[in-house]
Amino acid sequence: MADTDRLLDVPLGKRQIQAFYGAAAPVYDAATVEFEARAKALALDAMHRKPGERYLEVAVGTGMSIVEQVKRTGPAGIVGIDLTPGMLSLTRERLNAAGASSVPLMLADARFLPFRNGTFDCLFNSYMLDLIPAEDIGQIVSEFRRVLKSGGRIVLANLTEGEGADVAFSEDWKARFLKDPIQVGGCRPVLAGSFLRAAGFTEVQRTYCGGTGSWPTEVVSARAPGPT
Ligand SMILES: C[S@@+](CC[C@H](N)C(=O)[O-])C[C@H]1O[C@@H](n2cnc3c(N)ncnc32)[C@H](O)[C@@H]1O
Repeated sequence: MADTDRLLDVPLGKRQIQAFYGAAAPVYDAATVEFEARAKALALDAMHRKPGERYLEVAVGTGMSIVEQVKRTGPAGIVGIDLTPGMLSLTRERLNAAGASSVPLMLADARFLPFRNGTFDCLFNSYMLDLIPAEDIGQIVSEFRRVLKSGGRIVLANLTEGEGADVAFSEDWKARFLKDPIQVGGCRPVLAGSFLRAAGFTEVQRTYCGGTGSWPTEVVSARAPGPT
């Protein structure tokens, strides 16, 4: 079975996602941090951003990863977007508290990124593709490629199919999703590699991160085609 055939569809539209994540924003960290921290750290490590490189984080959420990237490599060249105003407000507060008020944030949809072709050296996106309707994932990944420079790097972290001892956890999650997707934040397991390859990305590498205390997550890195 192809990866794309295993994908459950998400019935939530843009307005429902904004409403859910707007309401969830104040409690989002408390509900997720411990289950996502290991995979996010792995994903940021895989990014290997150098100071000054043009860096886009799509779907910043409450801002934990973008602030961590600022701490690692400095604020110059970093930009963040999200679909949900309440999430952007929390990210703004967090960036200000970290002394990085200069980092631009924009309200935008990953389907239509408001940037010119080849703007960024690096693109980071975590726990967003898993709540995107199947029919839109290809368009979003093509947008990621469009805004990256030739040879630019992408790192994704997505809720994914559990492996080994995590299979039962994933099956239970999917059963809950099919019953009422909003109960699990509209998220279901994704395997992003085939979407990246279809959009022309090269050097696609996937690391599985799961086990006790971690939601089954894939960290996928790749490179936009063209010279490095
Ligand atoms: C599960 S949260 C993850 C937030 C953050 N990336 C993290 O890992 O903590 C999903 C985020 O994706 C954002 N989002 C959903 N659909 C989006 C889209 N089409 N474009 C941009 N952001 C989107 C939501 O507003 C929300 O902040």
